[in-house]
Amino acid sequence: MQGPAADIVPLAVGNDKIRRVNASHPKIEVKPISPALGAEIYGVDISRPLDDRVVAEIRAALLEHLVVFFRDQSLTPQSLIAFAKRFGELARYPFVKGMDDFPEVVEVIKREDEVHNFGGIWHSDTTYLERPPMGSVLYACEIPPLGGDTLFANMYLAYDTLSDGMKAFLSDLNAVNSAAKPDAAVGRIERKTERPTGEDEIKTESVHPIVRTHPETGRKALYVNRGHTVKIDGFSEEESRPILEYLYLHQTRPEFTCRFRWTPGAVAFWDNRAAQHNAINDYQGYRRVMQRVTLAGEKPA
Ligand code: SIN
Repeated sequence: MQGPAADIVPLAVGNDKIRRVNASHPKIEVKPISPALGAEIYGVDISRPLDDRVVAEIRAALLEHLVVFFRDQSLTPQSLIAFAKRFGELARYPFVKGMDDFPEVVEVIKREDEVHNFGGIWHSDTTYLERPPMGSVLYACEIPPLGGDTLFANMYLAYDTLSDGMKAFLSDLNAVNSAAKPDAAVGRIERKTERPTGEDEIKTESVHPIVRTHPETGRKALYVNRGHTVKIDGFSEEESRPILEYLYLHQTRPEFTCRFRWTPGAVAFWDNRAAQHNAINDYQGYRRVMQRVTLAGEKPA
């Protein structure tokens, strides 16, 4: 049960600042998969060079729906990188070594004999970095026969539906984010030997606003997450816990989420500044192989 409530706002996504996808384009079709967030895009072969108009439409769909999906793609690491680069600079994931010839591409693998999965907790990517990524692109290479779906949640809705009192309380607060939280770190254990050298140089703790303003849409989003947030800056962990627990439960209310059923060749592209995700670990004994690239972001403000 959630606590007493905050006013519920309509589950409409988007606002005046967001450009809508051009419906007159003959090839691209954007179909929302839930009222909260998520849309499948049809009519684009993202393995091929994309013209500026198509890139602008995909970006507009991403800003409106926070995560967009493409089905039946056939990507090489080069074409995955080329697609992502149309949306910004690439960033390197700090804890897992990339592919030998393509260091920007990280393989997100769970083998048949592995128990823990990577990203199996609600989180925004690497919020312990000074400049967390703006987004990630994940390509499905091998999918279990059943299970291994990914959940996404809309952090604009999470913020908008807080009470005015809670919004005012959080408005000037920052949170400490760390790479060391055990529930998130356990997902990296199996890949530990594959870490790049020089790990000492990786920044593993950063302080960010609890409510951030999206640099492109101007909307406010709740920016704490169960995977990496450890406490409210200036509070003890004990003092922070009940507030953060409330926010973690609130921000992943089912009506703020969507669930994506992967198929081989599917691609998800999410906006890390306004969405969280959680890879469901329900396929023990089966193999799941994905390739991921990450887009560089700015310091949250
Ligand atoms: C991740 O957190 O990037 C992994 C998501 C997934 O494997 O579905």
